[in-house]
Order: sequence, then C-alpha cells, then structure tokens
Amino acid sequence: MRIKPREKRKRTGSVQYKFIVSFFALIGALLLLMNTYPLMASRDLVFKEKESALMNQAAVISSSLSALDTLSANSVAQVMELLDVTSFSRIVVTDGSALVLYDTWGDSGIGKYALFSEISRALGGEQVFRSQFADGAFISRAAMPVRSRSVTLGSVYLCEYDSEQASLILSIQNILRVISIAACTVALILTVAFSRTLTARITHLAKAIQVVRGGNYAHRLDIGGNDELTELGNEFNNLTERLETTEQQRRRFVSDASHELKTPLASIRLLSDSIVQSGDMDMDTMREFVTDIGSEAERLQRTTEKLLDLSRRDDGIESKRSPVDIGAALKSTLRLLTPLADARNVTIEYTVGQDCMVLASEDDIHQIIFNLAENALKYNHDGGHVYLTVDGDETHVFLTVEDTGIGIPEEDRAQIFSRFYRVDKARSREAGGSGLGLSIVSDAVASLGGEITVSPRTPNGTRFAVSFPRFSEKEDAET
Ligand SMILES: Nc1ncnc2c1ncn2[C@@H]1O[C@H](COP(=O)(O)OP(=O)(O)O)[C@@H](O)[C@H]1O
Ligand SMILES: [Mg+2]
Repeated sequence: MRIKPREKRKRTGSVQYKFIVSFFALIGALLLLMNTYPLMASRDLVFKEKESALMNQAAVISSSLSALDTLSANSVAQVMELLDVTSFSRIVVTDGSALVLYDTWGDSGIGKYALFSEISRALGGEQVFRSQFADGAFISRAAMPVRSRSVTLGSVYLCEYDSEQASLILSIQNILRVISIAACTVALILTVAFSRTLTARITHLAKAIQVVRGGNYAHRLDIGGNDELTELGNEFNNLTERLETTEQQRRRFVSDASHELKTPLASIRLLSDSIVQSGDMDMDTMREFVTDIGSEAERLQRTTEKLLDLSRRDDGIESKRSPVDIGAALKSTLRLLTPLADARNVTIEYTVGQDCMVLASEDDIHQIIFNLAENALKYNHDGGHVYLTVDGDETHVFLTVEDTGIGIPEEDRAQIFSRFYRVDKARSREAGGSGLGLSIVSDAVASLGGEITVSPRTPNGTRFAVSFPRFSEKEDAET
C-alpha cells in the first residue's frame, strides 16, 4: 500500500515560524519592560524630588510673607529680596484677589490678575503641585496660600523648568534603545540561524523517512550533533535496519515457499503428461506413475501443513495448554515412527524419567519430539542408532535426541533452524523433507519458554538438547 506524501514542507516551515514568533514575543516583552520601567521609575523619582523642593520653598516664602499684615508690591519685594530663591525660573506672588504683586519675570505683569489655575486653587486654601515631563524638560508648578491668622492674604506661585535632569533621563533612554536594538539584532540572527539548523535537521529526518517509505530500506540517516535529535536519528536507523531484515526474510520466505511448492507440482505435471501422452502404457508403469503422483501430492500436503503451522505461530495463535508428561508423549510419538525406523534399519532406544511434566499444548510437544526423532532417523546410516532421553531437575525438564548419523557441518549448525534451510538438499528432498521441521521445533520450544541447542555427538552423529520449564502443581497452583 502506498501512502500519499502530505505537505511536509509547509509543516516544518511553520515550526520555524512558531519558534521565531514566540521567541520574539518574549524578547519584545522584555525589551519593552527594559525601555519603560526604569524611565518611568526615574521620572517618578524626579517628580517626588521636585514636589518636595518646590513645596518647601513655597512654604518658606508663604510663611515669610505671612508675617506681613497686608501684602503690597513693595512689602513683598522687600521680603523676597531677603530670601534666596534664584533657583526658580518664575516666582509670582498675588494678593487675595489674584492681583499680581511680585513676578520674577518682570514688572509688566504687576497689577494684573494672574490667571493660573494653581493660583486660584491656592487662594481657595489648597496646596497645589503639578509636574510634567514634556519636550525634553521637567516643568513643575507649585502654589500655596499665604495665610495670617486664618485669613488668606494671597498666594505664592513657583514654576521651575528643568532640562538638566530631563536630558540625563533622555540620554539613559537613548542608551537603552541602542542596547535594545543591538540585542534584538543579535537575537534575531541567532534565532534564525538556530531554528534553520534545527528545522534543516528535522527536514533531513523527514526526507529519510520518505526514502525508506519508498522502499529503500538500506537508507541510513546521519543527522549529526549530539542531542535528542541525534538520538531520534539513531532510533530511526535501528528501526530501518529491522525493517530491512524483516523485508529480506519475507522476500526469501515467499521465494523459498514458492520454490518448494513448484517442484512437486512440476513432477506431478510431468508424470500426468506422460500418462496422457503415451497411448499404450502398461498397467504396471501406469501404477508406478500414479504412485509417484500420490507421493508428490503427499509432500505438497506436508509442506502446506507445515507452512500453515508456521503462519499460525507467526500470528501468535496459541493452542490450549495443559500439563503434559514428556515421557508419555515420547513413547506415543515413537510408535508412529517405528515403520520409518524399520525401513531405515535404525534402532531407537530411550530412557524416560518419572513425572517430567511441562505446561504445553500436546500438539507442540508432539511436533518437537516427532521432528527431532524423524530427523535422527532420516539423516542416519544403515544400522545406525537413535537415543532419546527424558529427565529433569527441580526447575527443568530435559529432552535429548542423539543419533549416530551423518552429522551437521559446523558452518551449517547456526542456520538449520531457519525456514527452508537444508544442509543437503538432495538428501532431504529424497527423504521427503521441506526444511521446515526444525523451524517449527524452535518456534514451539521458544513459545514454551524453553531452549534448544545442537551439538555434534562423538564419535559421530548429532545431539539436540531441549530444556523446558518444569510444571509443578504446587507452584503453578499458587500463581
Ligand atoms: N539429526 C540430524 N542429522 C543430520 N542433519 C540434520 C539432522 N537434523 C536436521 N538436519 C539437517 O538440518 C536440515 C533441516 O532440518 P529440518 O528443518 O527438519 O528439514 P527437513 O525437512 O529437511 O528434515 C535438514 O535438511 C538436514 O540437512
Ligand atoms: Mg525434518
């Protein structure tokens, strides 16, 4: 089945995009804070300082003036001369009706009404302060009533224009701005570079997946680096390697199986064709041919039955298990093999221990014993022997099958449990084998939690040793 590739590129792109956007949202928020908070805080500090300076000064002037009974331009000017108030950009003193009596900006305003809201509020009895930061300067205004014995004689108004502190704050602001822009640029370059390499590696991985999905299981990924992505790349390679092996096994199995079925089918065709084509075949030859057809069909049946058995095991279908006495199973299985032993002129000897119980399906145990004993008979010499033993210890039951036969060359020993593997194809075929018996045995043993080993027997022959976990009624009842 082919799966259509989806829009992969768009997705990787959006990872990069998301990454950059969220990173910049964070950086932006940080820079905004860095550019506003210190300035606001220092501005507030200046406002406070201005308030206390102006209010203090206003209070000094107000209390000095309150010593006078009435306020007049002259008397105020005299008092003001005594006070040192040059640091303010403007000082205005009015009488109770907001008429200007004194103004540091010049005499032109004297005798006119002051229209500042601060003054009218001060005449109403309030102490007023207002400061603002605008056009690169702090402009602060304070106003206070001049009172004598709870009578409001007039008001004092101070105004200060400070560009010095303002320019200090402005220069801090500028420095912060430059730092922010520089930080932003560096962050931008780093983020883009980092996210590029990140997404490039992810894209690399995605491409490799595509290649493997396309059927090229030999493809391996080198993602570089030494991080989680490298780990992911390694896992991907492991997975691909397993896929490759499985795929190879599957292919070989299909081709072996077809080959195995093809051979007897071809013989059957050949034999039946000869019968059909020769018009005057005598009865004996005909019978011989039909017997051959029958044995080829039998071989086909055996092979397909074994293939079905193996595929059932591959699907993980397990037959029902019950405690099986291996000794008893051995005896009944050997009865089936007596004709073969007689035909080969091979003697079978066995010793069976008491109470060798294994939790298994009877069919599995039968398959194991039958295939091992059958091989021991088939790959034996005329007049040879087969020895079987069943015994056990506290935890295990052991089955050994030994023969005095042709033996298995060392280089083949590792492979004889593979499907369709045969050391001597001609001999196996002649004996009706398909090369599936031992793979069924090893699958069955593994499914029972046992182990099987093969070794040469001295002086000649082969020895198969199987161990099963022992079934003990007490223990298994407890669990
Ligand atoms: N006891 C034995 N002695 C010698 N060779 C053996 C023995 N058992 C198995 N073999 C070799 O292992 C191969 C695989 O065995 P098996 O899977 O049972 O297939 P077969 O259908 O050929 O018997 C056989 O073809 C044979 O070459
Ligand atoms: Mg066999």
